[in-house]
Amino acid sequence: MGKIIALANQKGGVGKTTTTINLAASLAALEKTVLVVDADPQANASSGLGVDIRKVNKTIYECLIGETPAKEAIVKTEIERLDVLPSHINLVGAELEILNVENREKLLSAVLQPLKDDYDFILVDCSPSLGLITVNALTAADSIIIPVQCEYFALEGISKLLNTIRIIKSKLNPNLEIEGFLLTMYDARLRLANQIYEEVKNHFQELVFTTVIQRNVKLSESQSFAQPVLVYDATSRGSINHMQLAKELIEKNS
Ligand SMILES: Nc1ncnc2c1ncn2[C@@H]1O[C@H](COP(=O)(O)OP(=O)(O)OP(=O)(O)O)[C@@H](O)[C@H]1O
Ligand SMILES: [Mg+2]
Repeated sequence: MGKIIALANQKGGVGKTTTTINLAASLAALEKTVLVVDADPQANASSGLGVDIRKVNKTIYECLIGETPAKEAIVKTEIERLDVLPSHINLVGAELEILNVENREKLLSAVLQPLKDDYDFILVDCSPSLGLITVNALTAADSIIIPVQCEYFALEGISKLLNTIRIIKSKLNPNLEIEGFLLTMYDARLRLANQIYEEVKNHFQELVFTTVIQRNVKLSESQSFAQPVLVYDATSRGSINHMQLAKELIEKNS
């Protein structure tokens, strides 16, 4: 039975999508079957995995409002064992549309539960908000990976996120666990980066992934070529870091 992992942090630009795309590709390369669920109207995870978002007409949006079964919206990527449930800018409207639906926080859970048998890992890329779609993602998830950018104020907003997790655990999803805090855009040359690593480690201890994602331009380049970095440049730092992260995640869950 597969594991659903949400990648969330309401802080923007911390590496949620980059981690989703590249962790997913690395897990697939390690023989795991993976589904990426794009829960962000920006649809960056979909486009970063090669989906032409102008052409898809069945997306997570149609699944959430009950118009389409997920299996009809899922598309294959060029990478073996890696599929995507794409997003669309329409997803912005879904927040409003589902506001009055019964069990409005559990719609994504209902969409994803039947897919758990088909995949080893289901990674949900969340938007930079704690709105209803993200609440749906955290309600559907078994665990959450929290990317933290190595910069000033790295931990700003984390207490709000932890509070949201607490509420979701008590009201909607008692089984939600923190899979780990992941430090991203780490630059070993900067003392600040080391200080932040130490600070996060002091706070969250064994909840911090040993793997750190270093700053690497290949990670941003690969996204503009709509490829995971593993395909774009397998020998790059970014590729090696994500492969290590995938191994650490598999190890943690075996
Ligand atoms: N380790 C890295 N090295 C270099 N660039 C990176 C790295 N991680 C992410 N980036 C770049 O930083 C930007 C933000 O990353 P990303 O889109 O993954 O963040 P996000 O948390 O998903 O953002 P949003 O909150 O908007 O969804 C992107 O342009 C991405 O290519
Ligand atoms: Mg993103």
